[in-house]
Amino acid sequence: MANNKKILIAYASRTGSTEKLAQTIAEGIRKVEGMSVDVKRARDVRPDDAVSADGYAFGSHSAFEYMGGELKMLFEELYHVRDRVSGKPVLLFTTGQGGQVAALESMDRVVGVFNPRWIKPGVAVEGMPGEADKAKAIEMGRKLAEAVKKYAYIVA
Ligand SMILES: Cc1cc2nc3c(=O)[nH]c(=O)nc-3n(C[C@H](O)[C@H](O)[C@H](O)COP(=O)(O)O)c2cc1C
Repeated sequence: MANNKKILIAYASRTGSTEKLAQTIAEGIRKVEGMSVDVKRARDVRPDDAVSADGYAFGSHSAFEYMGGELKMLFEELYHVRDRVSGKPVLLFTTGQGGQVAALESMDRVVGVFNPRWIKPGVAVEGMPGEADKAKAIEMGRKLAEAVKKYAYIVA
């Protein structure tokens, strides 16, 4: 079966750690045949980019133990098109200096509104991702892509 599916990675990052994690998750996604991936800053994502994707990875740095503001703004935009986002596979990822799990939990609560097909566990990393973090991120990216592929097979 032809399988040209797209995953959108949307992230907030100020100093590059979360951006690195986003790129590493993209590496894992590209390991799965038939998948393409767009890696974008949350502020550059238009609702149309999001609704045309078949799955998502959302990421952020921790800011006051919460997700970064630009990612929350994207979620507020997506709320208006939630019926076209809902039900698709979603992986979450964060970085922080100890508050990365709290940030992940804040995203989990908000994204839950979109009734996603969760790909868990989310990836929460302290600081710049090291080799072990990257291996986990690649694995979770691959898992997300496999879920998108399987989901596409079910609904095709
Ligand atoms: C305004 C601001 C608030 C932050 N608040 C937290 C926080 O509450 N908890 C935490 O662990 N790290 C906090 N940090 C640190 C960053 O989350 C952390 O350094 C992160 O890895 C940076 O990711 P980035 O390189 O993708 O921007 C904060 C950073 C900034 C700039």
